[in-house]
Amino acid sequence: MLCQRRMQVVLALCLLLVLWQCFQAPRDGIGPFTQAPSLLDAPAACLTASTNGSAWFNARYNLTTGPLLTGTAHELSSDVVQWWLTLQGRSRVVQLQAILRQLFTVLQAPSGNVWDSNHRRTCAVVGNSGRLKGSGHGLRIDAHDWVLRMNRAKIAGFEQDVGMRTTHHFMYPESAVNLEPGVHLVLVPFKPLDLQWVASAFSTGELTHTYTKVKQFIKADRNKVLILSPAFLKYIHDNWTQHHGRYPSTGFTALLFALHACQQVSVFGFGADTKGNWHHYWEKNRWSGAFRRTRVHDADVEFSLIERLAAEGRILFYR
Ligand code: C5P
Repeated sequence: MLCQRRMQVVLALCLLLVLWQCFQAPRDGIGPFTQAPSLLDAPAACLTASTNGSAWFNARYNLTTGPLLTGTAHELSSDVVQWWLTLQGRSRVVQLQAILRQLFTVLQAPSGNVWDSNHRRTCAVVGNSGRLKGSGHGLRIDAHDWVLRMNRAKIAGFEQDVGMRTTHHFMYPESAVNLEPGVHLVLVPFKPLDLQWVASAFSTGELTHTYTKVKQFIKADRNKVLILSPAFLKYIHDNWTQHHGRYPSTGFTALLFALHACQQVSVFGFGADTKGNWHHYWEKNRWSGAFRRTRVHDADVEFSLIERLAAEGRILFYR
């Protein structure tokens, strides 16, 4: 009898411990979150418990849509190409196969070891929101296997808040920056010219203008370049943002890339500050914020999707 009672007490304590760990996870909307647990601690259990059987998630997530262009002939369907050609400017007749051939002459097509199916990695997706300023998230971000940054993200002077490591840097020609050796440049192509630009920037430097002046050459590890597939952008536009905005933002695209590549995804630096400013963490003038609701992206829809993913335990969202 006494033994049975002891067992009940032990079981009750275990249950309390599990519940306590779940509520420590940095879920969006569950109280002020000040101290994150170790990245590999409790969340995995909480994620599994809360995610099985979400019809909402299953209706959107499609693991068979590969994030990368592979260089195989005719890998893009005509509906993808038709949609993609209208994203920036009017659709023109382009020799897409020739552009792709040239691209994968200058750059390596991805091989199995670049994109392996071993997803047992933790990933931090670091957006450029002003919310990161003063967050102190730097060490936590750097503790992930992969650290994904984007566009004109800055590190020098912001290490405490944004960390120091980068494994993948998402960009397009107009937002391009030079990278350290070993970092994957992930090109997000919004038009055929973007593919031509990356080929040119690693070879002849013949392309210096798109709709604005762009970098003639880029310093980055050419063996590490990854090209996102227009089909992946269309998948996000169709399944996730569901045609809100003209096409998904770089940040939301990087987040979906991580959802397809990583076992655990932590998200930092997304959203407006408490006063509704959509500035970047390096900008002093909050009102000059470049990322806000535009005709191009729908920041509100993307943010609500991030909140939902967090509420369903698919990502850890650090506000
Ligand atoms: O402005 P930029 O596109 O360089 O920022 C990178 C990404 O960070 C955006 O695409 C967006 O997804 C996210 N962001 C945000 N809130 C901000 C600024 C950027 O969610 N205030």
